[in-house]
Amino acid sequence: MIKRTPMVAGNWKMNGSRSLVESFVNTLNDRPFNGLDVVVCPPVGYLSFFVAECFSVGGQDISDQDNGAHTGDISGEILTELGASYVIVGHSERRENHGESNELVAKKALKALDNNLIPIICVGESLKVREDNKVNEFVGKQLAAVFDTLSSEQLSRCIIAYEPIWAIGTGKTASPEQAQEVHAFIRQTLADNDKSLAEKTRVLYGGSVKPDNASQLFAQPDIDGGLIGGASLKTEDFIAICQAAI
Ligand code: PGA
Repeated sequence: MIKRTPMVAGNWKMNGSRSLVESFVNTLNDRPFNGLDVVVCPPVGYLSFFVAECFSVGGQDISDQDNGAHTGDISGEILTELGASYVIVGHSERRENHGESNELVAKKALKALDNNLIPIICVGESLKVREDNKVNEFVGKQLAAVFDTLSSEQLSRCIIAYEPIWAIGTGKTASPEQAQEVHAFIRQTLADNDKSLAEKTRVLYGGSVKPDNASQLFAQPDIDGGLIGGASLKTEDFIAICQAAI
């Protein structure tokens, strides 16, 4: 049984300020977390401030194209040059607000890998899908597009994040059992492709993770950490969540 290093990633979304970056960096620098991968995914303009303080950072999106005439997009080359090591792909807000298909998300994951970035590939269902009892079918399709595009070796460099849309920013967390059920399904789907891949791949949970529910979620056997939105903007909450993951 391979031991997977737990991970907590903060997704600041379109939030933050110079002063928040400063207080966040100063506070986190005083509390090193051994045995935990901590990553911050701030708006891209703030990346360099974190990198200057030796923080691991990630982008929140990546173009599936190389550098060129794509106004407003951000390429893998640029993210890498800015010091990012990770990038979130297929967040539900990108899928919903920008019409990103499963196939495009898979192409973005490939582009990330081509640029030595680790993609954090987000999957997760809406409330309607859950109520219709179609969670596995829905998440299975999101994963299938990725499996169709990436080789086993490429998949072994990815992180998956299960983020049920109905739990994002709503204060409604999936119960540890609900989350574990889908994480086990994701791990089984990985195992169907390659058993060692399933053992190695980290699957993060995201959706209203807070200091008071983090420990129970992270105690589940197939939950390897969290992708944290709102609570990553509150430094002390983020630290408490990191402590819960160790
Ligand atoms: P939340 O967001 O923690 O605010 O629910 C999670 C995410 O969108 O990654």
